[in-house]
Amino acid sequence: MDRYAVIGNPVEHSLSPRIHAAFAAQTGQELEYGRLLAPLEGFVEVAGKFFAEGGRGLNVTVPFKAEAHAWMDELDPLARMAGAVNTIKWEAGRRVGYNTDGLGLLRDLAVNQGETLRGARILLIGAGGAASGVVGPLLDAAPRELVVANRTPARACELVARFPDASARGDLRAAAYGEVQGSFDVVINATSAGLAGSVAAVDPAVTAGAFCYDMSYGRSTAFCVWADMSGARRVADGIGMLVEQAAEAFRIWRGIRPHTAPVLAALRAERGDPAGAL
Ligand code: ATR
Repeated sequence: MDRYAVIGNPVEHSLSPRIHAAFAAQTGQELEYGRLLAPLEGFVEVAGKFFAEGGRGLNVTVPFKAEAHAWMDELDPLARMAGAVNTIKWEAGRRVGYNTDGLGLLRDLAVNQGETLRGARILLIGAGGAASGVVGPLLDAAPRELVVANRTPARACELVARFPDASARGDLRAAAYGEVQGSFDVVINATSAGLAGSVAAVDPAVTAGAFCYDMSYGRSTAFCVWADMSGARRVADGIGMLVEQAAEAFRIWRGIRPHTAPVLAALRAERGDPAGAL
């Protein structure tokens, strides 16, 4: 049977095995999907062994997306632009790297959440592996402005510099937290601050009237709670992005895109979201 897995550290709480099992059942594909815990210094060794033993594909999660990017024989354009790989396909003895995070986010925002990004002012908080995967696809959605704010401002500048055309047009700019002011239509958290239960120290006033989206997932993430208290128009966590990026990975591996709505609805029901929650 074709074998796939998610590799990360930590990885024990990943929902990816459940999501891919649901996709496989829905599409009638026979496959196995497991979890691989790699030591922090052992990504290439563990992933290499998986492919040497016949594995067909991996999803890559924290903290290995940049390392995976450096390890590929070939890169899909989105992965090259992102500098990060979250999906690897073993193709005729070569490791081909993809990044489905941006498409997953866009699809969740536009299709599941019904948000309009064209002409919107968007604030992206964070400039690490998670943020870098979504800047290109967000720009493709033609916002009026995309501001990338990071605790370490130099990292935001480096990320923005990878998109010289958008920066030159003034559609994209980097900012330190203290420089972020004014109102936004959409505020996206791409930091890992929530892993420690904290929230990036941006002015809470920027959330007023905005749709606030946490790329991390969980019923009440620190960012969602904070945004809700600060006057957000609406808040959402990243469970939809997780399912949509997985569907895109499944399509890359198996050539068929599963329906995401029933899988997302089941995960939401299980964690106790109110019926009909987006
Ligand atoms: P990931 O793949 O999750 O993006 P990463 O590449 O290590 O992981 O990036 C972590 C991001 O979360 C960075 O933007 C980081 O800010 P710095 O570049 O300044 O380190 C951000 N981050 C992590 N903890 C944070 C905190 N407590 N407050 C604000 N930002 C934080």
